[in-house]
Amino acid sequence: MKIAIGNDHAATELKYVIMEYVKELGHEVINFGTDHTRSCHYPEFGERVGRAVVAGEADCGILICGTGVGISIAANKIKGVRAAVCSDCTTARLVREHNDANIIAFGARIVGTELAKDIVKAYLDAEFLGGRHQTRIDMISELEEKNA
Ligand code: RB5
Repeated sequence: MKIAIGNDHAATELKYVIMEYVKELGHEVINFGTDHTRSCHYPEFGERVGRAVVAGEADCGILICGTGVGISIAANKIKGVRAAVCSDCTTARLVREHNDANIIAFGARIVGTELAKDIVKAYLDAEFLGGRHQTRIDMISELEEKNA
C-alpha cells in the first residue's frame, strides 16, 4: 500500500522510525513533513495528509504530533477523512475493522517507539469488515453532507 505520513515538530524523530518500519513491512511511504524539529503548526500537516488520502494519492495515512489529537482534529476537517487517535493495538485494529479509519494518529509524547510500531502494524494488517459497519460509515458521510 501507499501510506501518507505527516507530523509536527514534536514527532519528527518518531516519524523517521515509523517511516523505516512501514517500508520494512513492504509498503511505500509518502512523506508530507515536517522534517524539522523547530516549532511548526500541526494543522498544516494534518491537512496535507488528509487531502492526499481523500484524493487517492495514498491508500491511508499516519499522523503524529505530541498527542495525536490536534493533527487528527485538523485532518478530520477534510471531507472524507476518518482519522482516529490510537494509543493501543486493539483500538488500532478496530478503527480499521469497524470505522474504516483512513488515517491513524498517535502521540509521540504519549506512546513509546515500540508501541507506536505495533499500533501501525495492527492498523495496516486489519481490514474493514463492512456490513453493519458500512451502514454507520454511510451515516457519517451523510452527516458530513448535511454540515457542508
Ligand atoms: C505541540 O507543542 C503540541 O501542541 C502538538 O504536538 C500536539 O500535541 C497537539 O495536539
